[in-house]
Amino acid sequence: MRVRSSVASAQVSFLFASALFVTESHAQLENSTVINISPTLSNAAAAPTVDRSFISYSLEHNAMPGFVSTQMLNNLMNVWASKTGGRPGIRLGGSAMDKSTYVPSFKQPVIWTANPSSQYLFGPSYFTSVANYFPSDTQITFGLNLANSTANWDNTVEFAVAADKYIPQVDLYEIGNEVDLYTSTSKHRPQGWTGKDYATEWQTVANRIKTALPNARFQPAVFAGSLKDGFDLGSLVKTGVDNSQFKIPAYSLHFYPQSACSGNQNLDNLVDHSALVEQLQRFDPEIAAAEAGGSRFTLAESNTVSCSGAVNVSDTFASALWLVDYALSAAAKNVERIYFHNGPTTPYSLLIPKGVSGLSSGVRPISYGVYFLAEAFALPERGSTTKFLVTPVSLPDSPPDIAVYGLYSNRMQKPNLDTVGTTIKTYKTTMRETKTMVLTNKASTMTSLATTRAIKSVSTSTRRIITSTIVTVAKTTRVTKKTTVMVTRTRTERYTRTGGTSTRLVYAVSRVATTTVIPSVIRSTSTSRTTIMSRIVSTIWTTRVVTATKVVTPANPLTTTVSVSIKSTTVTSTERILVKPQPTDIQNFPLNEGIFLARAVVLNLSRYNTSDETALNCRSCSGPSPRGFGTQETRSSKTVTLTGFQPNHRLTLLRLRGPGLNAKSGFNISGVTFDEISGMVTSAPRSGSVYVDKTGSVNFNILASEAVLLVDEKVK
Ligand SMILES: *[C@@H]1O[C@H](CO)[C@@H](O)[C@H](O)[C@H]1NC(C)=O
Ligand SMILES: *[C@@H]1O[C@H](CO)[C@@H](O)[C@H](O)[C@H]1NC(C)=O
Ligand SMILES: *[C@@H]1O[C@H](CO)[C@@H](O)[C@H](O)[C@H]1NC(C)=O
Ligand SMILES: *[C@@H]1O[C@H](CO)[C@@H](O)[C@H](O)[C@H]1NC(C)=O
Ligand SMILES: *[C@@H]1O[C@H](CO)[C@@H](O)[C@H](O)[C@H]1NC(C)=O
Ligand SMILES: *[C@@H]1O[C@H](CO)[C@@H](O)[C@H](O)[C@H]1NC(C)=O
Repeated sequence: MRVRSSVASAQVSFLFASALFVTESHAQLENSTVINISPTLSNAAAAPTVDRSFISYSLEHNAMPGFVSTQMLNNLMNVWASKTGGRPGIRLGGSAMDKSTYVPSFKQPVIWTANPSSQYLFGPSYFTSVANYFPSDTQITFGLNLANSTANWDNTVEFAVAADKYIPQVDLYEIGNEVDLYTSTSKHRPQGWTGKDYATEWQTVANRIKTALPNARFQPAVFAGSLKDGFDLGSLVKTGVDNSQFKIPAYSLHFYPQSACSGNQNLDNLVDHSALVEQLQRFDPEIAAAEAGGSRFTLAESNTVSCSGAVNVSDTFASALWLVDYALSAAAKNVERIYFHNGPTTPYSLLIPKGVSGLSSGVRPISYGVYFLAEAFALPERGSTTKFLVTPVSLPDSPPDIAVYGLYSNRMQKPNLDTVGTTIKTYKTTMRETKTMVLTNKASTMTSLATTRAIKSVSTSTRRIITSTIVTVAKTTRVTKKTTVMVTRTRTERYTRTGGTSTRLVYAVSRVATTTVIPSVIRSTSTSRTTIMSRIVSTIWTTRVVTATKVVTPANPLTTTVSVSIKSTTVTSTERILVKPQPTDIQNFPLNEGIFLARAVVLNLSRYNTSDETALNCRSCSGPSPRGFGTQETRSSKTVTLTGFQPNHRLTLLRLRGPGLNAKSGFNISGVTFDEISGMVTSAPRSGSVYVDKTGSVNFNILASEAVLLVDEKVK
């Protein structure tokens, strides 16, 4: 395992996505493209994690003065580092390695000279400019000359020792560039010189460096990729160029899908996903050979088109989509890093650090692909230990125009606590044949008793009694005064009832009756009436039957043993139960299931060109793209239905979008663009936002020639 420090420098300022979201909503079309990604990684322990410096830069030695003359490269590297927590690595070398001579007395950093042969002369100020330019956490791979074997490579060893002395960031040495082309293209060695000869020379030089610098680490091979004549890693490792003899964290090969030297350059082919898959397959045995010895495989020089790139291909938006597809494919194969190769003005450069005749400084289209990947591998939070595992997603019927990658977090995640699932519980009940039962008679008996009782009641009533009093007056008597008559009566009434006699007292209350005597009446009879109100109280006797209950408990209960015979039956019943994970479920969560799909990248590589004149131009590109290649129909958009993310989670959605494959300007990553002078991003992305529905699927639209990144913010 490579033990490289992945600590971000203190200079890294984290640029986490702002809270700007644009909610996207899309109806699911009948014929949407369905992409099913596995929600968890089945073999997480074996899966490689992506190096934080996965995207790195390769620079020709002689191009260094141009790159250190402005802050653009540092700023671009800082954009990556601030997102991913790892600074891109720097490889200094290229074909200039094998033309390099170190001259300690030389004042200038580097100059080219024709005498005595075409070579670059380096002075110590070369080292100081490198050491001062790059932040201290930059890992530098330093390229050395193998081609010039004069004095048993004395100068090469001297160059290595001086680089170690003056550049603290030096991490690895490469010795010889594209050695498999030594007998052909570069003509550094005669015909018949093989991989075995290379290994012998390499060991001679490496051993000398090892003697001078015991901690020196190496990145051998540096093959252009012919894989012939013993120039393959399986053969190389067998010669002893291995991790047990030397410190070899990684072996390097180079990769370019097209070549300007052979005239093989084509914009449409660049975004051919199945061609890319095939091109990378040839590295499978190389990767396996590197890993067999405990090293890794790195692509330390790469870009769209070899031999400096191709105008109208390397400098178009197609290169950005290619970079995304290529890098994710390589990451899935456990390629440690890809170092993208740059010259200060070459067509394939990721940046033009400084304007030169006719060419402005600027951030090239391909760098938009790098930024998109920085978002794909961005730490979910500051100081996060998250690393990502990439898997290509194969789709049914393998549509030729779409590439999909799942990015898993290596951090154990808790199950989705928001999700309430349903479980169906099945119950099975089996009844046995016979059963013995003991019956105990403990029952009590009850007796009812009835009796008759006399009940006394009193009733009160009021009665009106009218009495009349007749007063007889003598004929001749003259009555001249009023007479008052007092009437008082007491009466007892008797009632006869069935079963007895009762006496009722009647109290007559006296009232004053006033009689008015009329004068001059000789004989007359007058009658006065008195109304008497009397209260009558009577006592009444009745009889009623009353029932009482008596409880009798037997002293010795009866016990009986019975044998019951039941037919054997099994009954099945089901029940739907809503479940929420319990804390114990979370603790016992299986490791593989805790490695969740964190992100996904979907590329629709269906080719779309623009005819927009302004988009065909780019100030840092040499000339505009050809006209007349604009696709006539309107650009189509297709709905994708994707599954694999956790239900109900919100996903942020970033789009790498441009006017068309042939465009040289006008692209952005959800609104993010680069400043053409500083190389810094001008804003935070305006991410879209979509929700995963409760069944776990999400819909979004994708244009022809577009890449979409979906990020689950909850999967850290
Ligand atoms: C969907 O595809 C089927 C068959 O491929 C086709 O018959 C149907 O018209 C399509 N529907 C839409 C809305 O495109
Ligand atoms: C080889 O290196 C020596 C210094 O060791 C230098 O003088 C000579 O010019 C170099 N030759 C070539 C072909 O670069
Ligand atoms: C790029 O396209 C432009 C416009 O058609 C053309 O003038 C130029 O020659 C092309 N460059 C190359 C290297 O093909
Ligand atoms: C890619 O986009 C094109 C244009 O929108 C569309 O016709 C095609 O179906 C898309 N491919 C897939 C697999 O969705
Ligand atoms: C897009 O334009 C380029 C020229 O820039 C051309 O080579 C290519 O064939 C065009 N592709 C399509 C699909 O029109
Ligand atoms: C991003 O690029 C697309 C395609 O060129 C363009 O339509 C869109 O307006 C751009 N967005 C921003 C915010 O620049």
